[in-house]
Amino acid sequence: MLIIWRRTYFGDKVRVTFCFGGSILAPEEPDVGCIREVAQTLRALKSQRHEILVVTGGGGPSRKYIEVARKLKASSTLCDIIGIDVTRLNARLLIAALGNLAEQKPLTTFEEAIRVMLRDKVPVMGGIMPGQTTDAVAAMLANSSKSKLLIFFTDVGGVYTADPKLNPKAKKFEVMTGEELMKLVAVKKLKPGANMIVDPVSAKLIQRTGIQTLVLGKHEIKRLPEILRGAEHSGTTIVPG
Ligand code: UTP
Repeated sequence: MLIIWRRTYFGDKVRVTFCFGGSILAPEEPDVGCIREVAQTLRALKSQRHEILVVTGGGGPSRKYIEVARKLKASSTLCDIIGIDVTRLNARLLIAALGNLAEQKPLTTFEEAIRVMLRDKVPVMGGIMPGQTTDAVAAMLANSSKSKLLIFFTDVGGVYTADPKLNPKAKKFEVMTGEELMKLVAVKKLKPGANMIVDPVSAKLIQRTGIQTLVLGKHEIKRLPEILRGAEHSGTTIVPG
């Protein structure tokens, strides 16, 4: 059972929404090597006729800006807006690396992003509205674009029973249901700049829509073409509950 889920063949032409977390694109500052690698892989997937939609997170720079805004007594809505600005900066860096393959500005609505994808280009979105993170943007984009698959890339490479950076005994789930994911993150409070594996808004959407979701680590970026063809991966697969 486990092996089947970990080795799903997704198809020859798959519509996929990707969420590249800020923790991998810009852990402290933008990681040029990682951004290049993401662009190279997306180019390979496009040449294999897959349909791609992309969301980028804010990472270290967004946390730093939010921290300063908080010190300056900015409201939490303003802190979120500043976070969104930084996610769009990271989107611009990925757009630069993708060149002509990408729409040349970060998209701000799902309709626009879908239109771009249907024109055979890669839409890149950052955040869109206060009170959530780009995980939620990705889950909404996956749902509205009728993506077959939603893939998150994070620095820890999967969903764990606890934060593996704080708890060395935390165990990675190989497979879990959307229901289990929701229970796991439901207790977390969502503050601007908060750091969690998948935000509660996103978990709820994954559970409600039943979209097949993978949470993978940075080392799997290059392996995406084979993972879509059914190769095994080391992350977490979230299946409909
Ligand atoms: P991220 O999506 O980057 O959050 O958005 P994150 O949890 O720090 O994820 P990683 O580390 O990048 O993977 C950064 C901040 O921008 C605001 C929130 O304050 C969030 O914490 N934001 C982002 C929004 O308010 N709305 C959005 O739609 C997106």
